[in-house]
Amino acid sequence: MAEVHEQPPVQLRLRHNAEKQRRLYHEADVVIVGAGILGCAVAVALGNQGRSVILLEKSLKQPDRIVGELLQPGGVAALEKLGLRECLEEIDAVAVFGYDVIYYGEEVRIPYPANAQEVGQDGTSEKSQSDEVRETRRTRPEGRSFHHGRFIKRLRDKAQAHHNVTVVEATVTELVRCADTNTILGVEATVQGEHDSFFGDLTVVADGYASKFRKQFRTDLPVSKSKFWGLELIDAQLPMPNHGHVVLGDGAPVLLYQIGTHETRALIDIPEGTPTASLAAGGVKNHLLTVVLPSLPPNVRPSFSAAIEKGGLRSMPNSFLPATTNKTPGLILLGDAMNMRHPLTGGGMTVAFNDAVLLAELLSPAVCPALDDTTTVLKQMRTFHWRRKGLTSVINILAQALYSLFAADDAQLKALQMGCFQYFKLGGQAVDGPVGLLAGIIRRPFVLFYHFFAVALYAIWIYVTWSSSVVMMPLRAVGSVGVFWKACVVIFPYIFSELQS
Ligand SMILES: Cc1cc2nc3c(=O)[nH]c(=O)nc-3n(C[C@H](O)[C@H](O)[C@H](O)COP(=O)(O)OP(=O)(O)OC[C@H]3O[C@@H](n4cnc5c(N)ncnc54)[C@H](O)[C@@H]3O)c2cc1C
Ligand SMILES: *[C@@H]1O[C@H](CO)[C@@H](O)[C@H](O)[C@H]1NC(C)=O
Repeated sequence: MAEVHEQPPVQLRLRHNAEKQRRLYHEADVVIVGAGILGCAVAVALGNQGRSVILLEKSLKQPDRIVGELLQPGGVAALEKLGLRECLEEIDAVAVFGYDVIYYGEEVRIPYPANAQEVGQDGTSEKSQSDEVRETRRTRPEGRSFHHGRFIKRLRDKAQAHHNVTVVEATVTELVRCADTNTILGVEATVQGEHDSFFGDLTVVADGYASKFRKQFRTDLPVSKSKFWGLELIDAQLPMPNHGHVVLGDGAPVLLYQIGTHETRALIDIPEGTPTASLAAGGVKNHLLTVVLPSLPPNVRPSFSAAIEKGGLRSMPNSFLPATTNKTPGLILLGDAMNMRHPLTGGGMTVAFNDAVLLAELLSPAVCPALDDTTTVLKQMRTFHWRRKGLTSVINILAQALYSLFAADDAQLKALQMGCFQYFKLGGQAVDGPVGLLAGIIRRPFVLFYHFFAVALYAIWIYVTWSSSVVMMPLRAVGSVGVFWKACVVIFPYIFSELQS
């Protein structure tokens, strides 16, 4: 009986010496699995609020990956809100001012919109149209591109230096559940070959695209219909420095962007079953040499062939996974473990950083003093699911819909692809809207639907009126029904997936 009183209750001990509590007893308010983009951001965001955080990462070595190399302006802004903007410095990052879309050799520049007006998630506009405000906001938003590993290293350093965060190199093997209440109490892990465990009021699982733990909470699997193959080009001469490049032609899209003073990333989308990339045809290398290389801007070709020769080709699946509401007490699934979209538009990190900002706001000590109050946390997670959509549904739907058009493999999609490019050529709102959505600046799903259907109608108009002969026009007019139908088939499944809880 006497033993019970020897130690003060957990809450009190935590407050008194949280660091010691984390280090010696492996107890914290929050245990985070994975010190990637999302894990580091959430650790710092919650640590800033005075929460005691343990961040577990299976390898603290600087990662070398082909993902997460271009951060959109909306992600830079969220990083700033988290107090982590510095992480973009001293990594030889390159400023990004927008995109260059190259369609069969013809270019259109798509700058991030000046006077970008950030619009609130509830649709209310934070700006006013007055010229005074416009003057003060004339700076153009900027993105950044960089080596993923260097950026991650900076983020992890920030977490490690934080008084309220302890980072441990540990591979999480199991979630610990309370047998009675089904509440997640923490995790089991391997630390330097030894079995160990960590406990928190809240466990955040952010173990990335191949999440080991997500299948315990949902039955559907990520859908992947293509892979991005990555090459590193040295001293490539890009047509438009400080811009992301999207190359469209007969094949699926190719992305090119500088990730350092001398290095440029090429990401080549290869859909499953591409004949020119089949084993019989000579594999991916054959596809790169015979299909991709000739489609690239002439000045890029030498560095591209040199990169193929040098080898080091790597791939990653391009996955789609709609978000679900977290319903398990004691657990939050986040980042790629919870929600993914095609990386064509470089939206993943922007989503992750904005989620970290929103999560910290919804779980702030003012709203939710104790994180073991699972009722309040679950209620806040329902709010989180719907509130994040202002931004994420836009990024998710745009990524998937644009990919369908850019990887067009039938006549109707080709018509939409051409319409999309011609739409961009109109400039003004036809550019500012779409790129503002892509940049994570405009947070209104309606703006996306508006531009998507404007593209579809413009595509139809071109399809009918630009046909080679007058005889063809009535036929094309009939065919345009198919084009419109295709546009609906492209976008509606993704809209519906965003309406799920
Ligand atoms: C080809 C490709 C290109 C992309 N390009 C971009 C881009 O340009 N811009 C952009 O914004 N987004 C891009 N993305 C998406 C972006 O990379 C992801 O959205 C982002 O990295 C997700 O962050 P995360 O923290 O959820 O996962 P990750 O950043 O992958 O982090 C997961 C972490 O968990 C760790 N981990 C895993 N399992 C365990 C375990 N059992 N125990 C302990 N630790 C564990 C991993 O080691 C890793 O550090 C791209 C994606 C792909 C596939
Ligand atoms: C860490 O938490 C304490 C409260 O426990 C808080 O006062 C302090 O500001 C936090 N530290 C940082 C660096 O945010």
